[in-house]
Amino acid sequence: MKAIMYERYGPPDVLELKEVAKPTPRDNEVLIRTHATTVTSGDCRVRSLHMPVGFGLIARLVLGVSRPRQSILGSELAGKVESVGKDVNKFKIGDEVFAFTGARLGCHAEYKCMPEDGAVVLKPANLNFDEAAAISSGGTTALDFFRRAKLQSGEKVVVNGASGGVGTAAVQLAKHFGADVTGVCSTANMQLVRSLGANHVIDYTKQDFTENGETYDIIVDTAGTVPFSRSKASLKDRGRLLLVLSGLPDILQMPWVSMTSSKKVIAGPAAGRAEDLRFLAELAEAGEFKPVIDRRYPLEQIAEAHRYVDTGRKKGNVIITLEHDD
Ligand SMILES: NC(=O)c1ccc[n+]([C@@H]2O[C@H](COP(=O)([O-])OP(=O)(O)OC[C@H]3O[C@@H](n4cnc5c(N)ncnc54)[C@H](OP(=O)(O)O)[C@@H]3O)[C@@H](O)[C@H]2O)c1
Repeated sequence: MKAIMYERYGPPDVLELKEVAKPTPRDNEVLIRTHATTVTSGDCRVRSLHMPVGFGLIARLVLGVSRPRQSILGSELAGKVESVGKDVNKFKIGDEVFAFTGARLGCHAEYKCMPEDGAVVLKPANLNFDEAAAISSGGTTALDFFRRAKLQSGEKVVVNGASGGVGTAAVQLAKHFGADVTGVCSTANMQLVRSLGANHVIDYTKQDFTENGETYDIIVDTAGTVPFSRSKASLKDRGRLLLVLSGLPDILQMPWVSMTSSKKVIAGPAAGRAEDLRFLAELAEAGEFKPVIDRRYPLEQIAEAHRYVDTGRKKGNVIITLEHDD
């Protein structure tokens, strides 16, 4: 099968299209033929080892000190079940599914095996493969942070970086949970963020939301521009700052903020659970959650996709499409 491999950390040029052995599903696994996958900001971080402050060494220890241990990137996909192991009873050949491998990666390939009890779910009928491929990464991240923050209906939420992969999911999910949502983005993305249901949109090139006198129950920062020092005055009493993008100092600061104020900083990696995928699929099926697609690239042009995601300015998700002869 075709797969995109990289043998050393670096710029998008390290990515190579290779022919590798097609995997065989174990007894409890399904073999999925990939129709669409994504390039996330996480893929670009892992490829380049460009990590948030304080995580450089930890990342090398986890991902491989001198070269990557997992040479195929990609954390989400959508496709069709091509074969099943003998103990599989939740899926059958031909089922259309989407899946999330998270930090285990491995989705930038024509085929991927997943345990039937893992993060693999039937594709919502009203989404195409491209849309279904983009449900998991932003969706599970936003969901996990809102769960940790105990988001309540009626709360005021501001999402900084509302037009990105996590931001577009966070705006839609906060609206679903009954919040009053403000999206913060650049001028060009205001209409997009409004279309996702945001009650208010702030153009960060014209106004600094931390200085406009408003206060919020929850501030979500996906852009890394509103640390606690800048945003604490914009948090209500018992307010929570969700640092989707955080460095080690932000994480070390968390207990100190809780001990010394009524406010809270929540940071660190999000958990991507199978039940969250099922929840997001139900929401998508009900028309309440729709992944935003910015650009599509064929598998062969994945380096171009990485170059675009590297800009840090994508709108929602960047899709990689795979052609199959039939
Ligand atoms: N903690 C976790 O588990 C976890 C999970 C997923 C992602 N992440 C991290 O979270 C970050 C965001 O991920 P993503 O996938 O959403 O990235 P993305 O799709 O590249 O989006 C980043 C967004 O930031 C916006 N932005 C840039 N400068 C800004 C500024 N000064 N003020 C406000 N917005 C600004 C951009 O919008 P404009 O073009 O409008 O400026 C862009 O839409 C990444 O660093 C990623 O590594 C963490």
